[in-house]
Amino acid sequence: MLGAHTAVGGVAQRGAIWHSGRRLMLVRLRTTTSDAARDPGVAGEHGAVAVRGVLRDRLDRRVRYVRMSLTDRCNLRCTYCMPREGVDHVDRAELLTFEEIERLAAALAGLGVTKMRLTGGEPTLRRDLPDLVRRLRSIPSIDATDGRLRVFMTTNGILLPGLAAALAEAGLCGLTVSLDTLDPDKFRAITRAGALPRVIEGVEAARVAGQPGLKLNTVAIRGFNDEELHALCRFAWARGMTPRFIETMPMAGGALYVPGELMPAAQVRAQIAGQLGASVRPHHGGDFEAAGPASYWRVDGGADDGRVFGTIGAMTENFCERCNRLRISARGQLHGCLAYDDAFDLRRALRDGEEGAVREVLGAALGQKRAAHDFRLDGGGGPVKPMIGIGG
Ligand code: 5AD
Ligand code: SF4
Repeated sequence: MLGAHTAVGGVAQRGAIWHSGRRLMLVRLRTTTSDAARDPGVAGEHGAVAVRGVLRDRLDRRVRYVRMSLTDRCNLRCTYCMPREGVDHVDRAELLTFEEIERLAAALAGLGVTKMRLTGGEPTLRRDLPDLVRRLRSIPSIDATDGRLRVFMTTNGILLPGLAAALAEAGLCGLTVSLDTLDPDKFRAITRAGALPRVIEGVEAARVAGQPGLKLNTVAIRGFNDEELHALCRFAWARGMTPRFIETMPMAGGALYVPGELMPAAQVRAQIAGQLGASVRPHHGGDFEAAGPASYWRVDGGADDGRVFGTIGAMTENFCERCNRLRISARGQLHGCLAYDDAFDLRRALRDGEEGAVREVLGAALGQKRAAHDFRLDGGGGPVKPMIGIGG
């Protein structure tokens, strides 16, 4: 029944909670027996999961990781992410406030979440970001390695030169910088705006600040950056970063997706091996074990022997079985999966302040989390919402 959930213009289907335009309804999830009898697939898909000590979804996957979008705005306009114009942004009053994010994070940490990643849009566009990081880092999380919530961030790096030191100082545990090319002209073309030197300067600032957990995320795009995957690896390795290559995904109803541009993760690995004059083999252990969607690969032989890179094969190497996450959009909508439009209104639960309301919304999302996504190579199967509407 996965297909049945693919939104048709974001419109409601059978008792689920759907978001259409700017309005979002919170409906108590309950699968009636008659629904289940008519369609056995539905019974498993709908129905809140009781949230007690820790978060577990309906397939018993434990949720320890929450991606928190701070804004749906961005200072770049990457071609695969945003249309050139006509993006309908969330009003500022709709954004979760830092205070709300902190309250939410504390509730999540109390339910066994150990890790939160701040995303966007571009999270550095929120003012006083280091202050938020500091506040989140002080939240106790029993299961986290140092007993406090682990806080990470993904950024395009443009504003990092002025922020990196303060973020590291605030206790940011890891920082991922998105960078698709090392060629300034190509960078300007793919981001429709950005200045590559700023990003490089930002990476350098993070390194100098002693920022731990630095990663470089590259969307691998055939005909655009396939010739420089090894150069991106070496750029990252030279700076103590782990490079990772992501398959392009059909967000926004596939509007920005070009099937011929997809580089399957296996091809990315073969290409990198060829470019480095080496072979690659799976790499496990240490920081690379509980890796979520990424799989890690070790270079064998040549000048880069022992180096590690990651691939994220959302399109060709499904990793949903290992899924451990929920996503919260900038306006506080809780998404179980990046690949589906349905969302649950956490912001309302927070603002209503009703005892148990947040738990109820969490339970609804956990009861709705899909077994797997249904992204298709032809650009179908993804959400109608864009990446920035769900949270990257
Ligand atoms: N497919 C794959 N990755 C994407 N990103 C944004 N849109 C897409 C897409 N359609 C990536 C960005 C960044 C992260 C937040 O998501 O490049 O690395
Ligand atoms: Fe901005 Fe990231 Fe989207 Fe590029 S991919 S437009 S940097 S949110």
